[in-house]
Amino acid sequence: MQDRRGDGVELLRPADLEALLDALRRGAVPLGGGAGLMSAAFADAWGRTAVDLGGLGLDGAVDGRVGAMVRLSRLAALCEGRPAIAQALAATGHPGVRRLITLGGVLGARSPRADLPVALAAAGATVSVLDAADGTVRELPALDLWDLPGPFAVLAVDLGPGMPGVYRRFTGHQAIAPSLVSVAAVRRPDGRVAVCVGAALARPRLVDPDELPGPDELLDDGEASAGYRHRIMRLLVAEACEALASDQADQADRADRADPAPLDGPGRCDTPSPPLAAAPAEATVLVDGGAQPAPDGARPTDSLAWWLRDRGHLAVKVGCEEGTCGACTVSLNGEPVPACLVPVARLADGDRVDTAAAVAGRPGGRAVIGALAEAAAVQCGFCTPGVLVSCGSWMDRHGALPADEEGIRGMLAGHLCRCGGLAAAARALCGVCPGAASDATSDTAPDATSDTASTPECVREVTV
Ligand SMILES: Cc1cc2nc3c(=O)[nH]c(=O)nc-3n(C[C@H](O)[C@H](O)[C@H](O)COP(=O)(O)OP(=O)(O)OC[C@H]3O[C@@H](n4cnc5c(N)ncnc54)[C@H](O)[C@@H]3O)c2cc1C
Ligand code: FES
Ligand code: FES
Repeated sequence: MQDRRGDGVELLRPADLEALLDALRRGAVPLGGGAGLMSAAFADAWGRTAVDLGGLGLDGAVDGRVGAMVRLSRLAALCEGRPAIAQALAATGHPGVRRLITLGGVLGARSPRADLPVALAAAGATVSVLDAADGTVRELPALDLWDLPGPFAVLAVDLGPGMPGVYRRFTGHQAIAPSLVSVAAVRRPDGRVAVCVGAALARPRLVDPDELPGPDELLDDGEASAGYRHRIMRLLVAEACEALASDQADQADRADRADPAPLDGPGRCDTPSPPLAAAPAEATVLVDGGAQPAPDGARPTDSLAWWLRDRGHLAVKVGCEEGTCGACTVSLNGEPVPACLVPVARLADGDRVDTAAAVAGRPGGRAVIGALAEAAAVQCGFCTPGVLVSCGSWMDRHGALPADEEGIRGMLAGHLCRCGGLAAAARALCGVCPGAASDATSDTAPDATSDTASTPECVREVTV
């Protein structure tokens, strides 16, 4: 495999908390979903040792206590009655990113602009942390993470009881850009309203709505002046408190509900699991239905996208390499994800990866290709394979694509088309279902497991 990241990162797989503590003390960086680690923004983590938390039983949930390795898309299922957290979740990235990033990763990154910590703090959530400084596991208010001076690993989060709340964010550019100001307001059981402000400050902070931080305390940079952030913050706090006073606060975010998925994992998050069994020597992954040896010796920063392309799966396009364009989307165990953000070292025996080449050979894929071709909704075609994978996964789960353009746009959030946007595609795809393949499309349908030789035109023409 080509080394596109310079020096690789060594990956440790601790079997228990003691081994994790040892790794942290030796300077290892916890690896959550790996999305941050794979994108350029976290380049400073390269060249160090990563410690994989995947084998420690941190991927379950019990009574609002959620393991650090739970993905945000799974967390959505636990947000019934916690609207502020649900809305902050729905505001985080796009669905493909939420299927990869973990609760522990979002908190552990301690990004001043992250959405979820703001809502968790307003909701009074507490975090269970292994602190490498003294070797203890402690329960902290979510915002106290910012005070930990040394290495630590988030093990679990207690979301707290259900409470009315709202989350608001303001971005300067497009909807998926990081917040300039974010605000969560939650009515606690004693009637008090807790308000947390994020993104405008160097770290999120619980504030008194009547005594908000002044401009001198706010970030002032090329994206926005402190004065501008101050005005937005006042507006958002007032709006959030008003919404909380009315009954809007109980409405969970619709986008979040559109992607419900049951929690997987062993269902526990407070006790370490037995050691992760070593992958059997003959471990294989299924790529487009064909068995491939599971990656051995891959570095954490080697991406699934390049691993696939290096093996001839050229329907996987690589664009931004930071999870924003959707060109590299593949289906991983049935869920569409940006393959550029998936550390290939994470592939395990029996994992199923489907690229656009496989989706194109199925009735649903043929129907999508037929609809796009009929509407002439494809220009250069670079974005098309990723779109096809997302459509195929949606049809597998729901039987047909969303009936209206708004639903299609929600499904395709995270796909960017550099030619003409996806407006024509959104119109063409409304309500498409597997049975909708036109005769002409069906007659020339490719073999589902074949490679580029039988891949249909709109996928093949961009196979470079
Ligand atoms: C395309 C894209 C869009 C995004 N959009 C948003 C957004 O809208 N809002 C938002 O809030 N965030 C957004 N993010 C940022 C994202 O939330 C962070 O990158 C997050 O850290 C990724 O989580 P992860 O599980 O993949 O973490 P990783 O990449 O595995 O790790 C990220 C950092 O957290 C540390 N870490 C991981 N797990 C733990 C743990 N259990 N304990 C302690 N430290 C840990 C790692 O060492 C590393 O420093 C976006 C990221 C991408 C790539
Ligand atoms: S999202 Fe992976 S290349 Fe752009
Ligand atoms: S058709 Fe060119 S990127 Fe979408």
